[in-house]
Amino acid sequence: MPALLRTPARPRLPKVRCKSFANERTLMIAPGLALQISKAELKLLQALVYQECGMYFDERRTHFLEDRLQRRLKECRVDSFYNYYRLLLSDQGKGELSRLVEDLTVNETSFFRNQAQLELFHKHVLEELLRVKPERRDFNLKIWSAGCSTGQEPYTIGMLVADALAYYELRHANGHVQLPKPLIPSPWKVEILASDISYSVLRSAQDAMYNDLQMASVDYNYRLRYFDKVGDRYAVKKNLKELVHFDFHNLKTEFLPQNNDIIFCRNVMMYFDEAEQKRLVEKFWRCLNPGGHLFVGHAESLLGLTDKFQMVYRNNGTAYVRVGETQ
Ligand SMILES: C[S@@+](CC[C@H](N)C(=O)[O-])C[C@H]1O[C@@H](n2cnc3c(N)ncnc32)[C@H](O)[C@@H]1O
Repeated sequence: MPALLRTPARPRLPKVRCKSFANERTLMIAPGLALQISKAELKLLQALVYQECGMYFDERRTHFLEDRLQRRLKECRVDSFYNYYRLLLSDQGKGELSRLVEDLTVNETSFFRNQAQLELFHKHVLEELLRVKPERRDFNLKIWSAGCSTGQEPYTIGMLVADALAYYELRHANGHVQLPKPLIPSPWKVEILASDISYSVLRSAQDAMYNDLQMASVDYNYRLRYFDKVGDRYAVKKNLKELVHFDFHNLKTEFLPQNNDIIFCRNVMMYFDEAEQKRLVEKFWRCLNPGGHLFVGHAESLLGLTDKFQMVYRNNGTAYVRVGETQ
């Protein structure tokens, strides 16, 4: 069962206390009226958000920060930036800080995003792992989708792994076929961990229901095998859903999932500044097994950030392989 569903039965958003705080100050803000926020105040908030989650709002993205801040001020009925900032720094404001960070995340994603890169993952990286691991009597595969948003990325990974293992079975079955065919044939054990800093995207990822627009990049072959039609939406089938475990992780922290064969962290680092990107790449190096692979987004690169990874590419797909044996 997915981790988020285990304890508590459903994740609850951290409690937002701003209402009682607003009552304390007996505030009223006219709807539609924006509060004046100075550049210095925005800088303070920018620093706090950076410290909390690594997202960096430079000049080009300040308007987005201000827009989301105005929204939170209105929803919390707080009358000044000063009071809101004090709330964020207080113990009772922890929930509000998480809520603000959630509002600042960009959650754009899709199934089978960046085909060329997935081809490299499926046809080369996975194939190689399935060839090399059994030579060491190792049948475990651990993949982490860091910054998974609403789940399309880890479910895509799940479908590709299941396909690669089905093909592996076909070649190695020697007349013995497991029936009914399990998604993951024994003795293989596959763990796909998917994490994000936003509880709301994690909840949709766990619901695993997608509309026509979200399914546009899923061809009929995959739809038939891995989805059920429920009303006007598509539900991820139980066996694929069970393969992916969702959990909350803030990439800014030091405690991240270890011993991964592969990490996908695509279109996340682009919201961090260079110093934070360097720290993150260093953490990924420690979270990967020797020879493990890191996949970053199409517009992202490790160039100039580290010499502990080497780029590998096929056609237009790129990935980075961890170099150096010891952790
Ligand atoms: C643009 S989406 C990318 C989704 C997917 N990886 C893809 O490429 O399609 C970026 C995701 O990163 C998450 N994120 C941003 N900062 C994070 C942090 N510090 N820790 C964990 N997740 C974070 C956001 O909540 C968002 O869901």
